[in-house]
Amino acid sequence: MRFPLVAATVVAMGWSVAADAATVLITGSNRGIGLELARQYADLGWNVIATSRTPDDDIDLQTLASKHGNLRIEALDVSDHDQIEALAAKLTDTPIDVLMNNAGILGGEPDVQTIGNIDFQSMEQVYKTNAIGPMKMAEAFLEHVAASDQKKIAVITSGTASLTNVRPSPFYKALYLYRMSKTAINMGYRALSLEVAPQGISVGILAPGVVETRLLQQAGYGGMGMTTEDSVTGVIRNVENLGPETSGQYILHNGKTVPW
Ligand SMILES: NC(=O)c1ccc[n+]([C@@H]2O[C@H](COP(=O)([O-])OP(=O)(O)OC[C@H]3O[C@@H](n4cnc5c(N)ncnc54)[C@H](OP(=O)(O)O)[C@@H]3O)[C@@H](O)[C@H]2O)c1
Repeated sequence: MRFPLVAATVVAMGWSVAADAATVLITGSNRGIGLELARQYADLGWNVIATSRTPDDDIDLQTLASKHGNLRIEALDVSDHDQIEALAAKLTDTPIDVLMNNAGILGGEPDVQTIGNIDFQSMEQVYKTNAIGPMKMAEAFLEHVAASDQKKIAVITSGTASLTNVRPSPFYKALYLYRMSKTAINMGYRALSLEVAPQGISVGILAPGVVETRLLQQAGYGGMGMTTEDSVTGVIRNVENLGPETSGQYILHNGKTVPW
């Protein structure tokens, strides 16, 4: 049930909120896939809560917000649980239809993610960002999602998290930190999908494909990816199709399931 809003439109702190529009909260929305998610959801008329670690420095996100009254920016580092709890408390009266956990890091260049070179301090930070952060977000925002109409929690995972797809190929890179953290969150969200089903909440484990972003360049695959626009169009379609039947599935941007 949506929380009551008396006016058709509420203008608060510069955020023009359509009472009948759905709300999405996106992490890491200052660049790459997250910025494009914010752009497309804003264009679709959603109420967008676009979060980033450093909003004051995020010119592209600020520019997007200046063009869309339905997009509001909030500061959030997903590896900081105090910040997550503070934002959840600030948004207590805001139902969130889609909680979109997009923020993620690679954890360093591929050659420092090989055996003999593993930086275990970096590994901790990668886990905090890619696996623990989305679990903490789900916990902190569960009631916000449960109070919404659509009731969806999603994580942007990676096809590199598939155990089945780890096989020799000319393009194969170990990427231990990245792969392990993404496989961990796949399991976390798969288990979450069962636990929250009684509340009518669906969970998406969404791989965006190979996408031309800073992360892809750092991974050494620059120039091989699709545009953020093409990937995000598919991701949003998968969120639309998310429901009790598809909850907990590992789905690529094109709608195909990824083998675990
Ligand atoms: N590009 C691909 O081919 C590909 C493939 C599979 C999965 N993915 C996943 O897609 C998601 C988005 O990545 P991208 O490709 O768009 O890469 P990107 O351009 O490097 O963007 C990563 C985003 O995550 C944010 N971020 C990093 N650590 C954060 C933290 N602790 N708290 C909040 N935000 C944080 C970054 O913010 P800052 O600017 O503050 O660093 C940035 O906005 C990631 O989860 C990634 O693993 C990407």
